Amino acid sequence: MTPQEITLIKNSFAKVAPIADQAAAIFYARLFELDPALRDLFQGDMKEQGRKLMTMLGVAVNSLERIEQLVPAVRQLGLKHAGYRVREEHYETVGDALLWTLAKGLGAEFTLDTRIAWGKTYWLLAETMKAGARDGAAKAARAVA
Ligand code: HEM
Repeated sequence: MTPQEITLIKNSFAKVAPIADQAAAIFYARLFELDPALRDLFQGDMKEQGRKLMTMLGVAVNSLERIEQLVPAVRQLGLKHAGYRVREEHYETVGDALLWTLAKGLGAEFTLDTRIAWGKTYWLLAETMKAGARDGAAKAARAVA
């Protein structure tokens, strides 16, 4: 991530943070529109779930300068997601819903550069989560072999 990209992410997230509940609601509505089957994966209260997602994004946004330090926790989160029945292809759909939500929330301020910076950040997190889930699955397979 370049310092410019980090600034774009921080400035845009600061504009979404005050409307976090609304943004989370838009996000889930879009997600379930893209793939209604994903609804079944979510057991908890969606408002609470939305807060968790926005909090996690906030932590990531605030740690962009030292994102490597988050790697163990993000890998762990990925393994936990495999336990929620999240599969690799779902990351694509969630990424689409997230960018769509930011576009709605930010309007004209969601410039192409901002979009690219968010795409990079999301995929950095998503690839780290997927790798954590894959390693966890491989370890579990070795344990039973
Ligand atoms: C960068 C990507 C993602 C981030 C940062 C993220 C973040 C989180 C966080 C912080 C939680 C709550 C943590 C916990 O209590 O375990 C959570 C739970 C969950 N996430 Fe994600 N997530 C991501 C991708 C996905 C994807 C791709 C899916 C697929 C649909 C997904 C589905 C879920 C589900 C089903 C739960 C549990 C909900 C429940 O308790 O009912 N997440 N996520």
